[in-house]
Formats: sequence, C-alpha cells, structure tokens
Amino acid sequence: DEQKQHYKARIKQLLKEKDAVLVAHYYTDPEIQALAEETGGCVSDSLEMARFGRDHPAKTLIVAGVKFMGETSKILSPEKTVLMPTLDATCSLDVGCPIETFSAFCDAHPDHTVVVYANTSAAVKARADWVVTSSIALEIVEHLDSEGKKIIWGPDRHLGSYIAKQTGAEMLMWQGECIVHDEFKAKALRELKALHPNAAVLVHPESPASVVELADAVGSTSQLIKAAQSMDNDTFIVATDKGIFYKMQQAAPNKTLIEAPTGGNGATCRSCAHCPWMAMNGLQAIEAALSDSDRARHEIFVDESLRQRALLPLDRMLNFAK
Ligand code: 13P
Ligand code: SF4
Repeated sequence: DEQKQHYKARIKQLLKEKDAVLVAHYYTDPEIQALAEETGGCVSDSLEMARFGRDHPAKTLIVAGVKFMGETSKILSPEKTVLMPTLDATCSLDVGCPIETFSAFCDAHPDHTVVVYANTSAAVKARADWVVTSSIALEIVEHLDSEGKKIIWGPDRHLGSYIAKQTGAEMLMWQGECIVHDEFKAKALRELKALHPNAAVLVHPESPASVVELADAVGSTSQLIKAAQSMDNDTFIVATDKGIFYKMQQAAPNKTLIEAPTGGNGATCRSCAHCPWMAMNGLQAIEAALSDSDRARHEIFVDESLRQRALLPLDRMLNFAK
C-alpha cells in the first residue's frame, strides 16, 4: 500500500510536469479510474475516450485501456504525444482481424459499405468506410440501412448479429469475438435470474445472442451505467467486464450489483469477466510510461498516410454522433 501511495504521488507529479492527462476506460482497475478522476482526466466508454482526448488541451495523453484506444487518440490528435502503460495491451477483436485477410474479404464484396468496430488496428480502420463503437453502432447501421446500403461488418460477430437483428440490415459478418464477453453463459444466467426475480439484467452486446436475449437493457458501458442509474429495480445482474462495477456502483449507490456468470457447471473460462489486457494498466506501468526512461515501450506512432485514411471513417462517426 505504501508502494501504491508512492506511485500515485509520483504519477500526479509527472502528469503536471509533462502537461499530461490520464484517459481511462471503465474496464481498468478501480484505482486507475479513481486516479483519472482525481487528476482531472476522464473515465468513460471508448467513444467518449476518443472525444475527450481529442478535445483536451494537454500536450500528452496517457491512455489506460488497450492499444486500439491509444491508436484512435493518436489518429485524432497527431500533434499530441500519446503514451500507454504498455503497448502489449491488445484486444482479441483486434488480433482476430488482421488487415490482409480483412482487406481481401472487403475486396471480394466491393458493393458493400465497410463498417468496423473501434476495436481494430489503424490499418483496418483505414480500410473502412465507417468506424463505430458500441454506443453508436445501432444508429449508424440503421442510417446506412435506410439508404439501402449493404454492409460488411467486422470484427465482432455477436455485436454484429445483435445489430442485424435490431435493424434488419443486410450484413456480411467477420467472425471475431471478445474473449471476455464470449464467456457469459445463458443457462447459468437463467438460473441466477430465478434466484433474483426482481433483478434487471444488463448486457453488453459483445455477449452471445443467447445472453443478449435475456437482457432488460443492452448497451455500451456508459449506456449500461445509465441503465443501472435510471431503472427502478434494486438489483442488477451485469454481463460485462467487472471493471465497470466501480463506476456503476458510484452512479447507483443504493443498488445491488451482481456479476453475470461466466462458467457454470464448474466450467472454467479464459478471462472470467475481466479483460487480461485491461488489467495490464497498473500504477507502475503508468509511472513508467510518464517517466522518460523507456519511451519506445509506451509511445503510440501511426504512419502519417495511414493516419489520414483512418481519420476519415473515425471523423464520420464523430460527426454523426454530434
Ligand atoms: P464500450 O466502452 O464502447 O462499450 O466498449 C467496450 C469494449 O469492449 C472496450 O474494450
Ligand atoms: Fe477487447 Fe474484450 Fe478486452 Fe474489450 S474486453 S479490450 S473487447 S478483449
């Protein structure tokens, strides 16, 4: 604990010295979220992280999340230094959607509009017509569908099929998934629901369709927090990364929050409702990123021509969301 205090004090000092601001995702550990709040940074979903980083006057952004979030920040703010606690913090959706094969998939269907989730590399974004996050995906696909567009969707198949079902849009689906949300189990969730008949079920749409079907509210991290705040139920069963409980409990202090089951029948899971890459964003790693010792391990660079191409679909999303 003494060591933690030491790192926190040092990070606060470095943030000031370097004119830096900490931007954290809801899935990072509670102490990282608290530090971001305390130091005038932000804790939010991936869409708001992008916007906050772009609009904040600081010279340096330190992005506590996963690599695509750092890359998005750099694409939007090339003049800023973008640092990450570790560049090894990736995402199974990003890893499962390499540019070569994804690009070939798009090339095979040239009459389709390419819509990609923000959880992708800069190169995949550059190949897309639109980038979306979970908080805005439904509206954007609805809009494209109303214009009669046929859609290539990548990489999250669960989010994609949820959107296809909601909008009726014609979507060709890349077969990727989030290793965290893919582990939620419908059967065990039904059993848990039976034990808490008054509980509302909140589900992130990266979860399997069988789990989404049991939801009382489906949405991005920030939308789920709002649901816990505004719905009348006194208990919520929450199917998303457990990092969200810190903010959700703050937003709904008198409500009981329960983790949705990931295993069931003694089955083991790969990630047990906490993203292993989000978990890499520790205090020590943030301190290391801010102190100049080993910049190459922390700084995000995006090739300039790639950046310009990736900026177009990102800007399309940000302008649509206005
Ligand atoms: P949102 O915060 O946009 O809901 O994204 C969730 C996510 O998967 C981040 O890893
Ligand atoms: Fe990727 Fe899932 Fe981790 Fe989010 S929680 S970064 S979608 S693996």
